Amino acid sequence: MRPAGVPAHRATTAHLQALYPFVSGRGLGSRGVYLGRDLHGGPFCFDPWELYASGVLTNPNLVVAGQIGRGKSTFVKTFVWRQMLFGRRAWIVDPKGEYGRLATVAGVTPLRLAPGGPVRLNPLAVDRSHARAVDPSGQVDLVASVAGAGLGRSLTPTERTALDLAVRAAQARTPEPTLPDVVDAILDPDPGSAATVRTDVQGLAADGRNVGLELRRLVRGDLAGLFDGPTTAGVDLDAELVVLDLSALYDSPALGILMTCAVAWLQALLRRADGSKRLVVLDEAWAVLRDLGTARWLQASFKLARSYGVANVAVVHRLSDLRAAGPGGSEQRRLAEGLLADSETRVVFAQARSEVPVTRELLGLTVTEAELLARLPRGLALWKVGERSFVVEHVVGRDELDLVDTDQAMVGNR
Ligand SMILES: Nc1ncnc2c1ncn2[C@@H]1O[C@H](COP(=O)(O)OP(=O)(O)OP(=O)(O)O)[C@@H](O)[C@H]1O
Ligand SMILES: [Mg+2]
Repeated sequence: MRPAGVPAHRATTAHLQALYPFVSGRGLGSRGVYLGRDLHGGPFCFDPWELYASGVLTNPNLVVAGQIGRGKSTFVKTFVWRQMLFGRRAWIVDPKGEYGRLATVAGVTPLRLAPGGPVRLNPLAVDRSHARAVDPSGQVDLVASVAGAGLGRSLTPTERTALDLAVRAAQARTPEPTLPDVVDAILDPDPGSAATVRTDVQGLAADGRNVGLELRRLVRGDLAGLFDGPTTAGVDLDAELVVLDLSALYDSPALGILMTCAVAWLQALLRRADGSKRLVVLDEAWAVLRDLGTARWLQASFKLARSYGVANVAVVHRLSDLRAAGPGGSEQRRLAEGLLADSETRVVFAQARSEVPVTRELLGLTVTEAELLARLPRGLALWKVGERSFVVEHVVGRDELDLVDTDQAMVGNR
């Protein structure tokens, strides 16, 4: 069903084809998964790793933008599914709980994160499967990003030190600490930890108090039950497809924190991954960009993509979401716009007329390309792949329709 108020067609394909010769360049070739029809003629195939390897792209990341109901998630789901058929893996942060069908078809159960729900993840989990030593600084980073997301700011150097000492103290006490252990250690530090930074226990407790109280919220407060114990048995964050369903908190201010945890987790996982090619999808990415700490994490993730064999896919409604992340000149805004610079493939579905100028400016579009944006019917997108432009009609196979029906998923999960 089409969402109310969204016209199915704003321009016919024939009209768009008339403009198209001014848009299209040479095709990308036939390597990669089939995505649909290049309006210039012929199939459109795309593989970020192939294009990176052949030097067409200098990074494998994608930003996908488009108005509500224009086919962003549909494209992402079919892209992931078709990539999986070639042995690629995928990690999906799913704030609306709409990737469940994809997970089922791929034979996995989405990890539905809800306070008091069945899945618990320990940010301080020991990596038994890979038999590697725990990297304390990685775990401190992870917990710091979670605390920072809750506080709505980065930790000060003093807070960061207090947290670092608390994580190490908790690790010294138990082989696999959990967040409650860290909360205890930061609120009630030991004299040995205090001595390392030339203070006493009262001083160290004061340094870490705000962080401790924020982390306590994850242990006792509105997010209790998600991150406060050992990881639930059977959860495999290294599976072929991992879907983190965050829909239980979609309308809550905790969504940003949850998304931070998800992204932070993922990075911890990737640090020890085997280098297999993996798509990392962040649907509704604007929810992450609002928060400075998370925006930083995300940027690091985009920058590290190449070394980890990862192609990130960030989905937003409009590119002005990136500007709305913070006031002009702010670090937040710079980080959000930097994501665009770190994503050489931009897939732009229909945009409202009012959005066209900013989209044109951010993507360096020609007049004709900009003109197209407000006229694209559902399922058609302007692709900017490095310097090249394409207009692509995404084709959904009959057997894939079930994967992409968001109305059904919305009814089921929210
Ligand atoms: N290329 C396509 N072919 C057939 N159906 C499509 C196509 N693209 C989208 N649809 C249909 O349109 C509906 C809305 O698409 P989708 O959920 O992908 O939109 P969206 O851009 O992700 O929206 P939102 O901003 O609300 O997340 C889906 O139910 C899907 O079945
Ligand atoms: Mg969507």
